[in-house]
Amino acid sequence: MSQAAAKTSIHVTPNAGGFGAAISGVDLTHPLDAATVADIRAAWLAHQVVWFPDQPLSLDDLERFTLSMGDWGRTDFIKPLDGHPNVLELRREPDERSSNFGAGWHSDYSFQQEPPSGTLLLSKITPPVGGDTLFADQYAAYDDLSEAMKRMLAPLNAVHSAALPYSKEGFYANEGKARSMTIVPSDEAKKTELHPVVRTHPETGRKCLYVNRVYTIGIEGMTRDEGEALIGFLTKHSTQDKCVYRHKWQPDMLTMWDNRCVQHFADGGYDGHRRLMYRTTTAGDRPR
Ligand code: SIN
Repeated sequence: MSQAAAKTSIHVTPNAGGFGAAISGVDLTHPLDAATVADIRAAWLAHQVVWFPDQPLSLDDLERFTLSMGDWGRTDFIKPLDGHPNVLELRREPDERSSNFGAGWHSDYSFQQEPPSGTLLLSKITPPVGGDTLFADQYAAYDDLSEAMKRMLAPLNAVHSAALPYSKEGFYANEGKARSMTIVPSDEAKKTELHPVVRTHPETGRKCLYVNRVYTIGIEGMTRDEGEALIGFLTKHSTQDKCVYRHKWQPDMLTMWDNRCVQHFADGGYDGHRRLMYRTTTAGDRPR
């Protein structure tokens, strides 16, 4: 396929308030020219979550589009698809009784030293009910804090770890119910990384909260109780309704979000129905 495709004029339709936007007027089954890629990146940075309806992408298309957005992110503790080492299959069968994957507010892989900048999720089979993804705007969550709280948080670092979900004593290892996805629990999950509680987005320069319920396990220099109280407050504050957009899926929709300034939550409510998605991530840098 030629890389010299003609420039496409994308059409961006933001949600009221600007958090989240639909993008049309582009065919992602073909390589994109540099100007179209730049327009999509600009819309993504401005709206934090963007989605492209009616894109019947193959895995090769998904991989090519992902690489137009950045290098591969690392996929820890989950077995990727055979022959596609950077693609995860998020499958849940109609009779599956395990929890739906991602059912807790989080920013993908925030326990890594350099967590992914973006996540791309392609829907192939969507249930007739449930299965939405909720997104929470972490710029808005930060802006909504008092000046006194902002001053208190400014010097703080949080401890991030994958232990709660992915260690051998963790949630997925001990759930006791069969799961279609292959999770690989490991002692490696107990490693910790320090990240600022308030990070500055490396591309937009805006400040946002960077604490989440799944991977943030403490605050540097605080007792366990103090850290738990602060994390409890911040995670509740950062996922309150006024910061949240509920995303509805259709088959063949590609959605891409910015993990640096967004948390997400995979909602359930579709027992008895199949849901099938493919996920990739793009590399990020160390939060600052
Ligand atoms: C995830 O946490 O990446 C899964 C999101 C979803 O399946 O809706």
